[in-house]
Amino acid sequence: MRSFLFVPGDDPKKLSKGLASGADALFIDLEDAVAPARKEAARGIATDFLREAAGKPGPKLFVRINALDSGLTDGDLDAVMQGAPHGIVLPKACGGRDVTHLGAKLAVREAEYGLADGNTRIIAIGTETAAALFEMGRFARSSPRLAGLTWGGEDLAADIGAETNKAPDGGYSEPFRLARNLCLFGAVTAGVLPIDSVYTDFRNEAGLIAETEQARRDGFQGKMAIHPGQVAAINRVFTPTPEAVAFSRRIVEAFAANPDAGVIGIEGKMIDRPHLKQAERILARAIAAGVA
Ligand code: COA
Ligand code: MG
Repeated sequence: MRSFLFVPGDDPKKLSKGLASGADALFIDLEDAVAPARKEAARGIATDFLREAAGKPGPKLFVRINALDSGLTDGDLDAVMQGAPHGIVLPKACGGRDVTHLGAKLAVREAEYGLADGNTRIIAIGTETAAALFEMGRFARSSPRLAGLTWGGEDLAADIGAETNKAPDGGYSEPFRLARNLCLFGAVTAGVLPIDSVYTDFRNEAGLIAETEQARRDGFQGKMAIHPGQVAAINRVFTPTPEAVAFSRRIVEAFAANPDAGVIGIEGKMIDRPHLKQAERILARAIAAGVA
């Protein structure tokens, strides 16, 4: 999965547009994109949408529920789990213990609604409070359901009292770069997908591409979107190029032909074991994207 499109859960028109957006996954939002007065309606609209889409080809459907301390989590899950979503996005997660807690809640609904035990995935948003940053290394073994870890800078700015999360050059300022980087290290430590945050300036495609390429260079494997117009660029950036696929194949084949070699020269470059690991990762991504 490369692209994760947020769609407000109370908006049937945007939900059906999301299906046709080309995103690998939709994040049907019951949290910040839905006003308090619309929360109840959103549960019903999202559940109907999930039921309608069940079993059809298209993006994987996740629901972003309200945070564990909102008082809304159980009602959200009671509704949307009846639509058997692929997974749940947990905002304001404070480390692995919140993921474990959510996993227990999901197990109960899976049993009650006749869903396969353990099937519902979890993607956690791990950096939305100051306290959560100190937990970013503690997602490993929290739950076998955990599939990805992502980060957000808006709620964190509110929590710490930052006037902005931007530096004068337009990039993220230091506290938010720390959050982003901890997300990357935390996801890799837990063995789950590192997913970059949203790019909110949704009419600025050059800016989106620059931020997405930076994310890929650093090791992120996908990025969230807020507008369907952002999906194609994100998919393109996270799909390995034919050149990268061909070079990765050469590396894998060279080591397969020389199992005792520690280091090999290919096209004038020194290639050793870390390169092999990287090549295998690129090939796995290319296969997932359908280009290898
Ligand atoms: N998912 C699906 N469809 C979307 C969409 C989204 N996230 N964002 C916009 N669209 C649709 C619009 O409904 C519109 O459809 P139409 O042409 O049939 O009228 C079309 O795409 C073009 O939209 P546009 O006019 O460019 O944007 P907008 O002003 O209608 O919406 C936002 C702007 C930011 C309100 C909207 O993109 C949005 O709701 N994004 C998601 C916000 C969210 O979920 N945030 C929570 C996580 S940060
Ligand atoms: Mg938020």
